[in-house]
Amino acid sequence: MDKISINGGKPLSGEIVISGMKNAAVAILLANIMVEDECTIENLPNISDVNMSLDILSSMGAKVTRVSPNAVKIDSKNIVACSAPDELVKKMRASYYVLGAELARFGRSSVACPGGCDFGVRPIDQHIKGFEALDATVSVTDNHIVAVTASGVKGGSVFMDVVSVGATINVMLAAVKAEGTTVIENAAREPHIVDTANFLNACGAKISGAGTDVIKITGVPSLHGVTYAIIPDMIEAGTFMVLASATCGKIKISNVIPKHLESISAKLVEMGTTIDEDDDAVTVSRNGTLSPINVKTQPYPGFPTDMNPQMCVLMCLAGGKSKMIEGVWNNRFRYVEELKRMGADIEVQDTTATINGAGSVMHGASVRAIDLRAGAAMVIAGLACKGHTDIDDIFHIQRGYEDIIGKLRAVGADIEIISTP
Ligand code: EPU
Repeated sequence: MDKISINGGKPLSGEIVISGMKNAAVAILLANIMVEDECTIENLPNISDVNMSLDILSSMGAKVTRVSPNAVKIDSKNIVACSAPDELVKKMRASYYVLGAELARFGRSSVACPGGCDFGVRPIDQHIKGFEALDATVSVTDNHIVAVTASGVKGGSVFMDVVSVGATINVMLAAVKAEGTTVIENAAREPHIVDTANFLNACGAKISGAGTDVIKITGVPSLHGVTYAIIPDMIEAGTFMVLASATCGKIKISNVIPKHLESISAKLVEMGTTIDEDDDAVTVSRNGTLSPINVKTQPYPGFPTDMNPQMCVLMCLAGGKSKMIEGVWNNRFRYVEELKRMGADIEVQDTTATINGAGSVMHGASVRAIDLRAGAAMVIAGLACKGHTDIDDIFHIQRGYEDIIGKLRAVGADIEIISTP
């Protein structure tokens, strides 16, 4: 098993270039199932969740050709309905997009229940409700989800009971080739929803309102191939922004859309971090002490749940009591036990963590990457505090951060992967 080995306590400085967004990439790749033509997808992050999505497409009959480490050509003409292999689907949450895309193309779909990070129960009732509003009959049996229509998807109205990224994208996918018009209300507004809609519109879809809470989709008979570049990953950028502050460093984080980072920037500034914004870069630095703050995670444009663990590390370094209130997932604080091994003083009650920065005496330790963003938090903590840190289960980190070791070494981090047989 590979592990990450860190000697921490050094300020980091230099430039980090942000890769394409994981959660846009996995949606756009699987949306290719609906395009009976060749697409070229660029600015793809070279991470295991992307490679898994490409494996799903190949095993369903698509021709996938790597053009470069960050670009692929996908020809989905020969994809076979209901052929996504269970063993691949079960490894990744985003594989639920096969459902929406297959419904759009074939009027039916069957996939295994998806895997992914464990934040407690991860229901898909809103996906199912949306598909049913589009005239599909959905059943969940034996860890499989089966959706069928009598004669293709029909436009309909869906009011989401909870704001869900996955359900919004999935219903949007299913509706693109429907007969008639679909309206999704109380839709999620994340940038990856806009990116997926932009990709589909470039292929000939008629989607309006993505990025607002009402999305309208007018069905079109077919989609054509395009060349499309994925937007930068706001969570990767946010992770390195926190890192710059945590290590008292100065890092220019480039290839970003600063607008997507506003909720993260605002909290970092409130804590005492300096942020200089350019058109497509932010430079993050810190000289003074960190003030404690309160953060509540929310759907976009609120503070992202996928920055909860990383921000918690920064709160451990602040001089007082901070609160992190988790407003999206009911079981996101499993990483706190790992931070405690590094000296963190944190108390969790239900969905609120109280972080006593003054009482946290952080030092290196052996810890685990409990999930993807928790793993990123361990990397930040290991680099910020003095001593040696080993991180196990790093496959979680590799699911979402392209070349994290190379990027960190380039800004002066003492970090490496140790492979043990
Ligand atoms: N929910 C329901 N019913 C549903 C769907 C969701 O009740 O049918 C609830 C969930 O239990 C949760 C909330 O709605 O409380 C939001 O869940 P959402 O559907 O938005 O999450 P997701 O689509 O499964 C995506 C990201 C996650 C990110 C969340 C929230 C992908 C592949 N995953 O998950 O990203 O945490 O949105 O922003 O896009 C990550 O990248 O590390 C990651 C976990």
